[in-house]
Amino acid sequence: MTVRKASLGFVTLGFGLMVGLSAQNLPPGLNSKNTAPSDGPSALKWTGGNRESQYMNPGLDCIGCHSKGEGPRFKIAGTVYTKLDEKDLDFGVEGASVVVTDSKGTVFTYKTNKAGNFMSRGSDSPVYPITAKVVFNGKENAMASPQRTGNCMMCHSAAGKGGAPGRVIVAGK
Ligand code: HEC
Ligand code: HEC
Repeated sequence: MTVRKASLGFVTLGFGLMVGLSAQNLPPGLNSKNTAPSDGPSALKWTGGNRESQYMNPGLDCIGCHSKGEGPRFKIAGTVYTKLDEKDLDFGVEGASVVVTDSKGTVFTYKTNKAGNFMSRGSDSPVYPITAKVVFNGKENAMASPQRTGNCMMCHSAAGKGGAPGRVIVAGK
């Protein structure tokens, strides 16, 4: 009896996911149209709370949260936007490359996903300080100062902290 109920629930969830994926390429309920008219009609906002997903919580301090409690540990993570003052949870730019070079000259490159999020892989272990730049449509936007952490969002909030002008953004937007 219990087993039958559980499998029915699974089928329903699977069907829901398929419908959602074909419509928007994202699981349903995890995003919605952004209501701010200035962001354009196609702008999306994360509404999934702390549900595990590579698209979760764009604009928030990934590593601040992921360094304690649940969730994978990342050395480098964040979100790339087009506007310096983009609001928390708004989706960013897909397909930008975040290029991090560590003090030994090792280069780590990450492509942003649909939410504009990027994150390091498990084995990535940069030796600090690091430099960073964003490459998009052949244009580069580089950070002038080296940093001692890969927690980009610690400084790159909408208002900007630690001297940062705001979000990590692509050039020429
Ligand atoms: C407020 C806390 C919080 C913030 C901020 C946060 N996360 Fe998470 N994240 C979590 C938790 C908790 C989990 C694990 C959820 C679970 O196991 O159900 C998780 C899981 C994940 C996973 C694993 C998904 C999977 O399929 O296994 C990825 C990837 C991830 N987060 C990326 C990010 C990125 C990138 C950012 C920043 C843009 C971010 N997170 C910001 C709390 C957070
Ligand atoms: C400790 C604070 C701090 C951290 C951490 C940090 N930055 Fe920055 N970032 C700054 C400051 C300050 C500036 C402006 C001065 C400069 O360019 O050095 C800046 C500027 C930038 C710029 C150019 C301007 C802009 O806002 O787009 C990019 C691109 C950038 N950072 C990317 C990154 C990336 C990617 C990471 C994570 C790997 C990161 N930053 C981590 C402080 C930080």
